[in-house]
Amino acid sequence: MPWGIALSVVRDLLREANSDARLPEEVRVFDTTLRDGEQTPGVALTPEEKLRIAVALDELGVDVIEAGFAAASEGEREAIRRIAAEVDAEVCSMTRMVESDVDAALEADADSVHVVVPTSEVHVRKKLNMKPEEVPERAAEVIEYARDHGLVVEMSSEDGTRTDLDYLLEVFDACVEAGAERVGYNDTVGVMAPEAMYLAVSRLVDGLDGVVLSVHCHDDLGMATANSVAAVRAGAEQVHVTVNGIGERAGNAALEEVVVVLEELYGVDTGIEMERLPEVSKLVERLTGVRVPPNKAIVGENAFTHESGIHADGLLKDERTYEPIPPEKVGRERRFVLGKHAGTSVIRKKLEEMGIEVDEEQLVEIFKRVKRLGDRGKRVTEADLRAIAEDVLGRPSERFIDVEDFTTVTGKRTIPTASVIVELDGSRREAASTGVGPVDATIKALERALRDQGLEFELVEYRAEALTGGTDAITHVDVKLRDPETGEVVHSGSTREDIVVASLEAFVDGINALLARRR
Ligand code: KIV
Ligand code: ZN
Repeated sequence: MPWGIALSVVRDLLREANSDARLPEEVRVFDTTLRDGEQTPGVALTPEEKLRIAVALDELGVDVIEAGFAAASEGEREAIRRIAAEVDAEVCSMTRMVESDVDAALEADADSVHVVVPTSEVHVRKKLNMKPEEVPERAAEVIEYARDHGLVVEMSSEDGTRTDLDYLLEVFDACVEAGAERVGYNDTVGVMAPEAMYLAVSRLVDGLDGVVLSVHCHDDLGMATANSVAAVRAGAEQVHVTVNGIGERAGNAALEEVVVVLEELYGVDTGIEMERLPEVSKLVERLTGVRVPPNKAIVGENAFTHESGIHADGLLKDERTYEPIPPEKVGRERRFVLGKHAGTSVIRKKLEEMGIEVDEEQLVEIFKRVKRLGDRGKRVTEADLRAIAEDVLGRPSERFIDVEDFTTVTGKRTIPTASVIVELDGSRREAASTGVGPVDATIKALERALRDQGLEFELVEYRAEALTGGTDAITHVDVKLRDPETGEVVHSGSTREDIVVASLEAFVDGINALLARRR
């Protein structure tokens, strides 16, 4: 049975609910990760990092990359210039209503400018110290200047959603007459609600003549995705979004959420290659340092991970029971983790995957022990499950490698260095390495000791999380390792006060699990 059938009830309801709506067939994606996203407190990207993200966005299929604010710095201009030389998407620079900002955008080789026009009373009178009637003229002058210099112009109404709609249409008219090709309705402080957004955008689209209306939503009240979608239903043809929803304060509408909702529920074509979403999300997470919450829709670690036994049992019978869309469609894979809610069917499946055969009685005993660990608040990894199963089966736990000892030093003038003594298949091996930090040096030393014996494993993911506060915080380390010989992937973890010990244990447990599968 195709997946769509499970969703058809919702899609039919939406079709009926939108019979009078102006839902377009296609929506343009204007990505502002490198401008509004970079305004996330604490984030500053180098030109090189911006270029890497821009190339990924281009491959993802966005229409416009707002690469920065050219007037801000030479670094910003260099980033925009390098991006413009590299990507196919339209490369845009933000500008204020001043000609010198347009000059900076030209100097940076931008294809277009995003002219920000404050429109609400508070922005116009207090921030700009202008009279509302002066704004359309000022905006038109800058837009004409940009058009005369060959730039595509998109204007957006800053604090548009707190602006009188008749006045806003006056500003839009002046901007369109001056040459703006797209006009934007901005929910700058994230206060809109979907019904109000729908009504406002409907009126604006009625008042505009064939010009693309863009929508820019912030997530202060958690409504950015819903508001962006409401605007599209009312006829907006472009959405401003950021990867992982990063941005000022609570962030912007998340690209992955808006795109997947429009594509999967409303059947609107966004041109985005959805299976690339996780890799772009991870790149942005790594380069900005803004961690994606595990429960984040689409790209969060847990978005397609199942813990409850009831859910796992249902999924093993039919995948549509507890998943909204097939994970592969958005580049993800289904994962089962074991904990206090685990059920026997998922434990049996995991054991089968590991090549461990058990009878009913043994399965019940393993199930009880997994629950016991879960009740103590422990995440039960594959390595833990293997150890439990081997104990229940009365087999000596197979540990192919063990760390006999290790030493790690670091300091202000000392390059982080580690030496590790491992026992591998009964004989001792020793290796040392430096690294960027103590964890890196220790793991590299371990890898070197194994490599000397012809054993190599690929680190797919490493995550460390302080579970408690303070310098004596307990840290949980999760690793995902891949055996290049068999293609097998395992997750393992360890929780310790010492992050180096936790990392080493997680690695060693994971490697033992991979070796057990290999052998
Ligand atoms: O939220 C907003 O209105 C903005 C403008 C500066 C474009 O980001
Ligand atoms: Zn914004």
